[in-house]
Amino acid sequence: MEFYNREKELRDLLNMIKQEPNLITFIYGPINSGKSSLMLEMINRLPKEYVAFYIDLRGYAVTKREEFFKVLFETYDDEAFKKKIYNILSGTENFHKAIPILKHLWKEFFKIEEVSDAFKHVENFLQELNNRDLKPVIIFDELQVIKDIKIDNFLIYRIFNFFVRLTKLLHICHVFAITSDSTFIERIYNEAMLQGRSRYYLVDDFDKETVKEILRNKGFSNEEIDTVWYYFGGKPIYIIEAIQMKNMGKNIKEEAEKMLKLREIQIRNRIEVLDYVEKKVNIEGKEVSVDKNRLLNLLSRFCHEMIIPYEKISPELLYLIENNILFLDPVNGIVKPQSKLDLLAIRNCFK
Ligand SMILES: Nc1ncnc2c1ncn2[C@@H]1O[C@H](COP(=O)(O)OP(=O)(O)OP(=O)(O)O)[C@@H](O)[C@H]1O
Ligand SMILES: [Mg+2]
Repeated sequence: MEFYNREKELRDLLNMIKQEPNLITFIYGPINSGKSSLMLEMINRLPKEYVAFYIDLRGYAVTKREEFFKVLFETYDDEAFKKKIYNILSGTENFHKAIPILKHLWKEFFKIEEVSDAFKHVENFLQELNNRDLKPVIIFDELQVIKDIKIDNFLIYRIFNFFVRLTKLLHICHVFAITSDSTFIERIYNEAMLQGRSRYYLVDDFDKETVKEILRNKGFSNEEIDTVWYYFGGKPIYIIEAIQMKNMGKNIKEEAEKMLKLREIQIRNRIEVLDYVEKKVNIEGKEVSVDKNRLLNLLSRFCHEMIIPYEKISPELLYLIENNILFLDPVNGIVKPQSKLDLLAIRNCFK
């Protein structure tokens, strides 16, 4: 698959990686903005002394510590483990989807309630890589999947402590955590434990110049480019969709109108359901009701604006975020629709 642009982001990320590990980097952005693709491309471009562990929690219904361990580790029998470790330490295998571990050790971790032994194993392994002049990079994709797991306390806090240890304290591993979940990033951003120990990197949709360049190279006319930008903005997934529409000889405007209509219906449903069902969201541990009038008030602000300032999480804002209609960027203090198509669909709901 072809990878478009992102030269600036790749430069930024590769520059971060060149420095000694010091901060945890949170990669955030609207849905389908290309966060995972960007990080995988970064891995592709890593110099050979780097060893990447890309741990993807998407698709796993992780509700227990054990399930998290199943994703974090990959188990091997004695002989296979030796071979694996040899390949990693000799620098011949530098992309992995989990941390290798001996099967019997992993079973031990399962039995005991404590997570620190498992973390110690990871730390020793990373230290060993450093001893061999290799530079480990751990990337967790969809980290929010584990946000609700409790052991004594929330597992996520144990993980954050561990990340702080690997970066700021020991400087032995670069740690990236990717998430599309605005409420999770908001929680992290305000988390005292992470103050001064983390940084935030926004991966947004493509800008207009990038969209123009991609589409021009694909033979789009100026008019077609304007149509794509009007309906889809710079959302990578839709840009690819538009290229495919053109390849199939479809009329882009007609197809975009169909997609817009569908999105409008979906958003209307999310609003109208409030007439029949009392919807509640959880704010600071409390279940709070969503008020339809306040929600309409909030949404109507997008009739004239594309972006509004973020002040506080109201139940209505949270409801719209949880339904993937709005995106909250706590770092830049703004709220905006998840995509240009969402913005147009919201506006159509008020026509
Ligand atoms: N720079 C790019 N070049 C080509 N295709 C891209 C690029 N960025 C993203 N895409 C495509 O757009 C789609 C969405 O990208 P991706 O899954 O990386 O987004 P994401 O931000 O991680 O999404 P989510 O919010 O669901 O985690 C994918 O099909 C991907 O192949
Ligand atoms: Mg992703």
